[in-house]
Amino acid sequence: MKTLCFSNNKGGVGKTTSALNVGLALARRGHRVLFCDCDPQRSLTISFEGADIPEHVGMLLMRKGEFSLDDIHAVIRPVGENVDLLPASAEMEANEAQLPGWDAEHSTRLADILEMVGPEYEYCVIDTKGSIGTLTWIALAAANLLYIPVDPEFYGFEGLTNLVNTCTRLRRRINPSLRIGGIFFTKYSPAYRSRLRHDVVDLIKEHYGKEAPVFNTTVRQSTAIPNAQMAGTSLFDYAPDSTGAEDYEALTDEILQHLQHGN
Ligand SMILES: Nc1ncnc2c1ncn2[C@@H]1O[C@H](COP(=O)(O)OP(=O)(O)OP(=O)(O)O)[C@@H](O)[C@H]1O
Ligand SMILES: [Mg+2]
Repeated sequence: MKTLCFSNNKGGVGKTTSALNVGLALARRGHRVLFCDCDPQRSLTISFEGADIPEHVGMLLMRKGEFSLDDIHAVIRPVGENVDLLPASAEMEANEAQLPGWDAEHSTRLADILEMVGPEYEYCVIDTKGSIGTLTWIALAAANLLYIPVDPEFYGFEGLTNLVNTCTRLRRRINPSLRIGGIFFTKYSPAYRSRLRHDVVDLIKEHYGKEAPVFNTTVRQSTAIPNAQMAGTSLFDYAPDSTGAEDYEALTDEILQHLQHGN
């Protein structure tokens, strides 16, 4: 199982939307996908009907002592064809401060959980909150690849250095397999001055190009995206011909191509 984590310490840049639609695009291609919601806001969890249940991944993270495969299965919910979910709960916000520290032993708790269910899936897709707290740290400690959505309009790349440095620290101390899979632009409006986009792309390439590939695919502004989320339906069923669906298919193609070539 490859674990893909969508993160950016800026809020509202399209982390959940990207995790959701890349995961669904992988499932549509016949891959078994486990979603893991590490954000107490639980936007990913509420994207799925029937996921409103008392069990959540925080229960496993908080639990003292060992847990069995049955304990993990008790939390996982099937939410679609080829798609299961480890849901989040709002309780995880209050619990985050009590989660055991940032040291190697405790940081790998989610990694341990995912390793146990790993044989059942080809991909795990993790959604994270818009800050680097313990939950994001634990998520990145469990990930093979970090994907960073950036909103070009709001200079969503400010603070990326923090995330890239966190990644480097984790790689050195806790998770040597972690790599930055790529940076991509979301909510891109064709009405933006192309100058702005070029400036942002150049800046990002200049600052982070060595550490992270910048994807060719850009996810455009698409009203179908929030509309599908409000309708509680997959974007690919709700508006299969929308630019949103087209862009997330293309982004998934690009991610798979990079994975085949080892990054
Ligand atoms: N390409 C897009 N076109 C139009 N709206 C979008 C697009 N991508 C995301 N949105 C909308 O922008 C809002 C924020 O997106 P999303 O929830 O994915 O961001 P996030 O980074 O997960 O936010 P948070 O930091 O709060 O978790 C949502 O209402 C979503 O529907
Ligand atoms: Mg989110």
